[in-house]
Amino acid sequence: MIHHLRCTGCGRGIEPAEIGGDFRCPDCGELFEVVYPEWEETKRPNPVALKWLWKERRSSLAEIDQSGVWRFRELLPIVDNASVVTLREGNTPLYRLPRNGARLGLPELFAKHQGMNPTSSFKDAGMTAALSVAKARGFQWVACASTGNTSAAMAAYAARAGMRCLVLVPEGKIAWGKLAQAMDYGAVTLQLQTDFDGCVAVLGEVVRRAPVYLLNSVNPYRVEGQKTPAVEIAEAMNWDVPEHVIVPGGNLANVSALGKGFMEMQALGLISRVPKLSVIQAEGANPLFRAVHEFGGERLEPVQAQTRATAIRIGNPASWRKALAVLRDTGGWVEQVSEAEIALAKARIGQEGIGCEPASAVTLAGLEKLMAAGRVKREERVVLLLTGHTLKDADYTIAYHRGDLLKPEEVGGLAEQIEASRRNAMPMDANADAVLRLLEKEQA
Ligand code: F0G
Repeated sequence: MIHHLRCTGCGRGIEPAEIGGDFRCPDCGELFEVVYPEWEETKRPNPVALKWLWKERRSSLAEIDQSGVWRFRELLPIVDNASVVTLREGNTPLYRLPRNGARLGLPELFAKHQGMNPTSSFKDAGMTAALSVAKARGFQWVACASTGNTSAAMAAYAARAGMRCLVLVPEGKIAWGKLAQAMDYGAVTLQLQTDFDGCVAVLGEVVRRAPVYLLNSVNPYRVEGQKTPAVEIAEAMNWDVPEHVIVPGGNLANVSALGKGFMEMQALGLISRVPKLSVIQAEGANPLFRAVHEFGGERLEPVQAQTRATAIRIGNPASWRKALAVLRDTGGWVEQVSEAEIALAKARIGQEGIGCEPASAVTLAGLEKLMAAGRVKREERVVLLLTGHTLKDADYTIAYHRGDLLKPEEVGGLAEQIEASRRNAMPMDANADAVLRLLEKEQA
């Protein structure tokens, strides 16, 4: 679609080619969003025809149709097809979680597993969109600051496109699986002695001084790609959207993107209402939670972020105003969860044969809090957004099952449930009798 860019702060419009390298509004410093002028006129696409077309594309052999992002290209900015860089991202499964659903008395509990993407996180959906724009604009270098997943995704897509890429990550604070991906895909990877927020600051200066295309989520095209899982959720539920969608919150682009997706679908007549979108943060990285609960949504005070869920170890989220608008417009909430709650929730998602990384597990822990507060009712349908694959951070999982992850003072009232969920690997003699004795014990 033909698109414009509009500032989400002051409403200023700007031509796509004129946007600055930091993607901030020159007047008010806020972020831009993509808007489609045709939708405000009479040229709106026909919703019935769109649903049919998108379904048809599922059986197409064309690369662009096989992507679960570009399949919905009527909702995306136009890029010429030759510039599209795709790894067949999207089309991720919507799983039922019957055991957790039964435990919580919530029969309609689902997980949208964005970890089942080419680089094993939700970042691929946004990356295919924004990197394709970078390619179309003729950039040779792309760059991001990252807690790991964005850099893995960017490195993969840049490699596919034959472009160079620069990754800034906080030294010692990202999971090995993610660092390994950036290296494998050939990124120039720099570990800076700072946190994620410090990496963002350094990169801001780099993109002002060099012709490097910024692929952090302040880039409005990232958000466009990242809204397509909302379309997939709606499609998978036959266009009758769930009552709640629950999302982890870090830099807060994901909730902003999904909110945009659901609201645009409603405006186009593809769905008749939007789900409540709620954000869950780790207690040690909770600036949005504090902005809402302490400052009435008026301001956000950056925090010194600290959590083992390193993906969301972010103290000064770029998209907090967009996220607040989504909470307000959809009627969702923001909650925070402890390190022990995250770890237990992750084990419980693993027990369903699905698994996820720690940052994703905040959604299940947060759901329990929302239910306890009466905000989610038993008859309602809930979708948890699982953002990353369990293998991204195997160290965390192994430490949990060995009993080395949490300090005793962190466990609190969850000690028994955590013990019951642990499945450590056991050393054993290479002897069938010993193995059989153990099997009998397990069956008893
Ligand atoms: N879950 C995972 C697995 C993530 O990697 C991230 C963010 C989030 C949740 C939070 O999403 O920032 O849109 O609110 N990771 C970024 C990165 C910051 O650099 O990979 P958000």
